[in-house]
Amino acid sequence: MSRINYLRISVTDRCNFRCRYCMPEGTKKFIPHSEILRYEEITEIVRVFTEFGIDSVRLTGGEPLVRKGIESLIVQIRELEEIRDISLTTNGFFLSEKVKSLKEHGLNRVNISIDTLEPEKFGFITGTGDTRTLSRVLHGLEKAIEEGLNPVKVNTVLIKGFNDKEIESFVKLSENYGVEVRFIELMPVGGKFFSRKNFISSTLIKKQIEKKFGKLIPVKTRGNGPAKSFIVEGTNAKLGFVSPISEHFCNSCNRVRLTSDGKLRLCLMSDKDIDLKSIIRNPSYRRPHLREVITEALLRKINIDGIRALENRGCLRKMFTIGG
Ligand code: GTP
Ligand code: 5AD
Ligand code: SF4
Repeated sequence: MSRINYLRISVTDRCNFRCRYCMPEGTKKFIPHSEILRYEEITEIVRVFTEFGIDSVRLTGGEPLVRKGIESLIVQIRELEEIRDISLTTNGFFLSEKVKSLKEHGLNRVNISIDTLEPEKFGFITGTGDTRTLSRVLHGLEKAIEEGLNPVKVNTVLIKGFNDKEIESFVKLSENYGVEVRFIELMPVGGKFFSRKNFISSTLIKKQIEKKFGKLIPVKTRGNGPAKSFIVEGTNAKLGFVSPISEHFCNSCNRVRLTSDGKLRLCLMSDKDIDLKSIIRNPSYRRPHLREVITEALLRKINIDGIRALENRGCLRKMFTIGG
């Protein structure tokens, strides 16, 4: 098992989108505000995690930018001297107006989800039903680049019959904007969207790309996650692949997750969460107790349940409550 140095923090389960693979249709129930960790509570947990080697954090959601005052969390985490990298995964909708301030308060980099480059399809997959959503998100992408966040990456979940014919457009997007586009294999999380019918592997997409554009040459990029990155020979396009299904990267897993309701999740796919909120909200909270619980949890990190879930039925908790 790799060293665990990466903590993904979901700051809210709420989102202004309703991506079809993430939030099951008709989702109305969200975690009550009182159950969501306050920024001070998150920071206290991160502080203890730094003692265990966490040096990188990523803020996720739901959509992290729908939570008010996220800058103040960034500032608090920035003050922990062990933390060298603060990143954000966002749907990009609020980015154009927020990115300047996020950067000023200490955000290092951002990954933006864009599953299709066709406005109508974008409205469909994100559940907004609005053909203007895509241009707004692309504007956010431009602003992030303009503000000097580096690197800026695009996340594209591969869905057979939906966006697998758009690879050429994404290669061009990567070249035009100078950003890495990462194709993500659809995972069995969060409802009934996942099926064999709409799954397409990165292996197949890689083959198509090599046939059409040229060899994929492995490169290193700044990142903490499981993506493998490549340059398309003879072009400036940088592509990444996140392949949980076809690659089984669990052996090199370096990350744990904190859900917005204060659960420590050892693996994206395993539902055996550990409740940290009840520990820090206990009136007689003491830091050594939290340390003890985290020590015990991390010793259990090799996670057979998660691997099984990935191969079979998926997990019970929905993606928007975990943060990806
Ligand atoms: P970088 O630091 O830039 O590499 O970011 P990242 O890939 O860690 O974060 P991001 O939020 O952009 O995640 C990209 C995709 O990878 C999302 O679909 C995540 O759900 C997925 N992902 C990240 N970590 C894991 C993991 O441990 N297991 C699985 N199965 N998927 C993961
Ligand atoms: N399979 C793969 N990726 C997913 N994401 C959300 N749900 C799924 C799923 N079922 C991605 C989002 C975002 C990241 C946080 O997780 O598109 O890029
Ligand atoms: Fe919102 Fe992200 Fe889920 Fe889409 S994938 S509904 S943007 S949390």
